[in-house]
Amino acid sequence: MWPSLEWKGDKLVLIDQRLLPQKEVYLECQSGEEVAQAIEKMVIRGAPAIGVAAAYGVILEVKQSPDKATLQQNFARIVQRLRQTRPTARNLFWALERMEKTFKDLLSLSLREIITGLEREASTLEEEDLARNMKIGEYGASLIPPSSTVLTHCNAGALATAGYGTALGVIRTAYFQGKIDRVYATETRPILQGARLTCWELVKEGIPVTLITDNMAGWLMNQGKISLVITGADRIARNGDTANKIGTYSLAVLAREHQLPFYIAAPLSTFDFSLNSGQKIPIEERDPREVREINGHPISLQDIPVENPAFDVTPAAYITAIISDRGIAYPPYEESLRLWLTEETPK
Ligand code: MRU
Repeated sequence: MWPSLEWKGDKLVLIDQRLLPQKEVYLECQSGEEVAQAIEKMVIRGAPAIGVAAAYGVILEVKQSPDKATLQQNFARIVQRLRQTRPTARNLFWALERMEKTFKDLLSLSLREIITGLEREASTLEEEDLARNMKIGEYGASLIPPSSTVLTHCNAGALATAGYGTALGVIRTAYFQGKIDRVYATETRPILQGARLTCWELVKEGIPVTLITDNMAGWLMNQGKISLVITGADRIARNGDTANKIGTYSLAVLAREHQLPFYIAAPLSTFDFSLNSGQKIPIEERDPREVREINGHPISLQDIPVENPAFDVTPAAYITAIISDRGIAYPPYEESLRLWLTEETPK
């Protein structure tokens, strides 16, 4: 296992996910602003990983405060900056809310005690995320029948979290229980997280994986090559509507057509119980060059109009079950998810 990020006390070290699998380069962030830029540029990506990185970004900024008044200013400024990096991942806002709550609770203490307390909270977030993923793996694996071939989209693995992964966590656990024969990974245009990251992770661990382009999924289902689909999530509304990497919705519709189970795996930090449905989930629109180019090489006309939503929302009606660290929820999700609601409130 390898980490997406490593906290060194005075810097945050990130594996540069833009360069994988060709190059394993580590990037050191020494300020909150550097962390914010790393999130925006997708040096680090994946909803839970972004949340943990942001918490450490806050620490890097507040550590530069000579007194409490500056600390308060630095804290407010960096939280605001980090909030603006990627709008869809609920975990980012959840982690920053946890940091805000901790800050408020510690405000009467000395400068040093506040910083120590905040740093403790950031590493708790990291440890919790790993522990949550292990639980998701256990719950999710119970849904996987023997001899399965599993399709996954994007990368919801160790790289996208503090470790182990959500959808890939389920795949890891089920594979080592002997239930999975093969994983199919969609390439996941435009950023190719499936081709670059999921394949890299699975090959490193000796889990058999076959890469397909995004438009091949339906035909493989038609040919009986897929037993089930499992993906991660960026934000899940109270009714179970789920935002995840663009293309997830199409896979869910295809799974329904072929009567295949479609599962979502995500920690509670991904749930947004303030939203009744997925309609209000903010969808990030990214740079058009990501569609016009592959790895910096033009593939179309220079100024061709482009749409580049980074995520889509899969209506709950297409989701067979949602796996979290609290267990497995089945439709109707308004009822099953309500039982998990109290856990979501920042401590
Ligand atoms: O744009 P990305 O690469 O950050 O998108 C990642 C995804 O969509 C993942 O499926 C999601 O964040 C869950 S990661 C455990």
